[in-house]
Amino acid sequence: MAFSRVIAIDGPAGSGKSTVAAKLAKKLGSIHLNSGALFRAVGIRAKELGILPGDGVALSELARTLNFEFRLEPDNTTHFFVDGECWDSRVRTLEAGELGSRIAVLGDLRAELVAVQHRIAEAHEVVLEGRDAGTVVFPETPWKFYLDAPSTVRAARRHAEVVALLGESAPQLEQVLREVQERDLRDSTRAVAPQVRAADAELIDTSEMTAEEVVEVIASRIRGSSGS
Ligand code: DC
Repeated sequence: MAFSRVIAIDGPAGSGKSTVAAKLAKKLGSIHLNSGALFRAVGIRAKELGILPGDGVALSELARTLNFEFRLEPDNTTHFFVDGECWDSRVRTLEAGELGSRIAVLGDLRAELVAVQHRIAEAHEVVLEGRDAGTVVFPETPWKFYLDAPSTVRAARRHAEVVALLGESAPQLEQVLREVQERDLRDSTRAVAPQVRAADAELIDTSEMTAEEVVEVIASRIRGSSGS
């Protein structure tokens, strides 16, 4: 399989990878391939259809039948479509993250979603954000980055996001911190494709950095090397 340039950005929830991946993709004119959105979308649709989170066969079948698109608009932003409908805001909720995380332990489902990611990267340059982008999905890409920050910093970021989204009905910071820590544990200890830094990924601690600064670090690595 021949792929266009793939920049793989992994890291835990709240590490800044979504914001960084979106800005970097826009700057480069690449598709922002948000693999978490795929897990979230399958989780949401499964809930609507009454498919249980442990039913790997039904979930893999569901993933196979859904039509996922990441559309690059003329302004270089990417929008996520499921069966022709824009799901950008549907996949952004805390509940969608939980639903996605629960089913992300299933090997067959993961394999289906890896195939989706490969198909997209065959056709276009991508900035891929995920948990296993540099370890499992595109282990051969020379562009691998792992963003991280302490869980308290990441929870504070997530909390600010949900407050902006939900206002007064947003959960308390303590609850968001608990959820972030539970998610870390589940994502990093699962048997299949656990969240882990690839040995050859550059670690970037984003605690004290703005998203623009992180984007600039990554863009400078790409400019400064002929590895593409
Ligand atoms: O990055 P995110 O918060 O959108 O991801 C939602 C959940 O999906 C997350 O808890 C872990 C899972 N996930 C995964 O296991 N592998 C990916 N490549 C992307 C997300």
